[in-house]
Amino acid sequence: MPKISPDRLTIRRPDDWHLHLRDGAMMHAVAPMTAAHFARAIIMPNLVPPVVTGAQAGAYRDRIMAALPDGSTFRPLMTCYLTENTDPDDLAQAHADGIITAVKLYPAGATTNSASGVKDFDKVRPVLERMADIGLPLCVHGEVTDPEVDIFDREAVFIDRVLKPIRKKVPDLKIIMEHVTTENAVDYVRDSRANLAATITTHHLIINRNHILAGGIKPHYYCLPVAKREKHRIALVAAAISGDKRFFLGTDSAPHTDANKFLPCGCAGCFTAPNTLSCLAEVFDVAGALDKLENFTSLAGPRFYGLAPNEDTITLTRGAPVTYPAQVETGDGPVTVFDPGFPLHWSVEA
Ligand code: NCD
Ligand code: ZN
Repeated sequence: MPKISPDRLTIRRPDDWHLHLRDGAMMHAVAPMTAAHFARAIIMPNLVPPVVTGAQAGAYRDRIMAALPDGSTFRPLMTCYLTENTDPDDLAQAHADGIITAVKLYPAGATTNSASGVKDFDKVRPVLERMADIGLPLCVHGEVTDPEVDIFDREAVFIDRVLKPIRKKVPDLKIIMEHVTTENAVDYVRDSRANLAATITTHHLIINRNHILAGGIKPHYYCLPVAKREKHRIALVAAAISGDKRFFLGTDSAPHTDANKFLPCGCAGCFTAPNTLSCLAEVFDVAGALDKLENFTSLAGPRFYGLAPNEDTITLTRGAPVTYPAQVETGDGPVTVFDPGFPLHWSVEA
């Protein structure tokens, strides 16, 4: 049980079940920020070119480890990017060797660097069947890319057009519907019987689409899936604080330089790694649900993945508003840190 007093909260050390670390200078700047608070993270493979083989995942893992501070015990949990050419034997070997923890499905064109994603889901069915056999989970970016479908409806349509058929054809496959943004997705996961869970990001618990669009466009709140209307945000908070073991944290912290956010066609992604736990503690505190934070950040995720929760703990303390940098410098240029729009009172004790 978490130890809670009005201004102190000790929980098992959290894991992040959906994280973008990028590569090179950016990775060197951002990886230590997640490693400072989290024990493990599922690392997204959407580099350019994407991480598609076990060997590439192993090499990327080594580069991440080399970017961590000396003595860090942070463990990157690697993924391969599913394409229509993925070799099931290569995935199975990488899984058996402990190199990969999951496989990532991007519908082609759904988001940043997803051009190599899947167009024809029947083509990847043999891979999905193999994954089900060996207990290798599938992380899914759940949005259709059909230009006819309104961007605010793409997640709900994905459930009907893609997710339901996959789950019917490969019922034993463990699926994580990532960064859910709608009441529809929350209900679908809650009504499912087995082998389905969802991650929720920090920012989708805080912003709705007004934050992006009302009173001037705010590129730093633009991410994919795009934030929806307020009733959906409320449904996400309800799921996160419910204690339900099928909902857990995947921050989707996705750094882009300000230069790339401010283009006429700017990049999608919110960078929450530096203040994610302060944001989450504030959201749970305001909801009167601090006793459920540990389930969301530290227990439900490992349980779904079949891993043990972390043995060590972190302590959050409540005090005067926390200060965090508005931007972090990376070798590639400044990256703006997510601004929740309200003061944060909880900080992670050093
Ligand atoms: C992610 C990125 O920048 O890589 N962007 C985002 O808005 N979340 C890609 C993704 O996870 O969709
Ligand atoms: Zn992502």
